[in-house]
Amino acid sequence: MQSDRPAQQKILILGGTVEARELAETLVREGHDVTTSLAGRTIDPVQPEGSVRIGGFGGAEGLATYLREEGFDRLIDATHPFARRISENAIKASALSGIPLEQRLRPRWQKQPGDRWKAVATLDAAAEALPPGATVFLALGRQYLDAFSARHDCRFVIRMVDPPETPLAFSDHVLVLGKPASDPDREADLFSAHGITHLVCRNSGGPGGYAKIIAARRLALPVIMLERE
Ligand SMILES: NC(=O)c1ccc[n+]([C@@H]2O[C@H](COP(=O)([O-])OP(=O)(O)OC[C@H]3O[C@@H](n4cnc5c(N)ncnc54)[C@H](OP(=O)(O)O)[C@@H]3O)[C@@H](O)[C@H]2O)c1
Repeated sequence: MQSDRPAQQKILILGGTVEARELAETLVREGHDVTTSLAGRTIDPVQPEGSVRIGGFGGAEGLATYLREEGFDRLIDATHPFARRISENAIKASALSGIPLEQRLRPRWQKQPGDRWKAVATLDAAAEALPPGATVFLALGRQYLDAFSARHDCRFVIRMVDPPETPLAFSDHVLVLGKPASDPDREADLFSAHGITHLVCRNSGGPGGYAKIIAARRLALPVIMLERE
């Protein structure tokens, strides 16, 4: 009897997102041999189904070599839309190795009625857009914070998944450790508890970080939205 299942493939997912985890689960369920690659940025990442490897490949050439040596049939880029270098490497590695690449990049969020967004193209522009005296929630990764530290006239509430390795150079700030909540009510409670007047975030798209956008809408908070190029 013929099976309806697609032939088993050996698949490398470039991950680090909720969508990559969901994809790994689906592909493992379909019977594929799936490996998810994580950069190793978070101390205790949620483990996807299938195999997991952690750490950089050493550029596009390193990724191409890994793909060939491990005998992968497919490469899927399901990384975060602001993780640009690895996506560029994936394109080059696919060209170098001849192993097909599928890109699963999320569409950006679209402004909804009630949203008070100011779109900016750079982190410096985001920092400049804040009025003096603002209490600002920075929903940004560690590598995006420096542009704001010169704003001594604002107070910052900074959310990070893991504690910073070196102290942050902000004169007035509070750290909130942990992942974003998926419930807008919890995000709204957090904003209210800290007296937040402005939210700064990136237009990442996807469901993972959208609760904060809904919370800002409910509280009529201005959002400084860093758009992708
Ligand atoms: N940027 C964000 O805001 C954000 C948010 C949530 C999750 N993430 C996830 O965190 C990871 C790192 O993001 P990033 O912005 O630092 O990336 P990036 O700037 O595009 O990549 C920098 C370097 O990190 C390594 N790398 C990145 N993603 C990798 C992966 N999935 N597996 C193995 N190596 C990886 C590569 O090193 P080599 O050149 O040595 O191979 C790459 O050249 C990504 O997997 C992304 O999906 C990022």
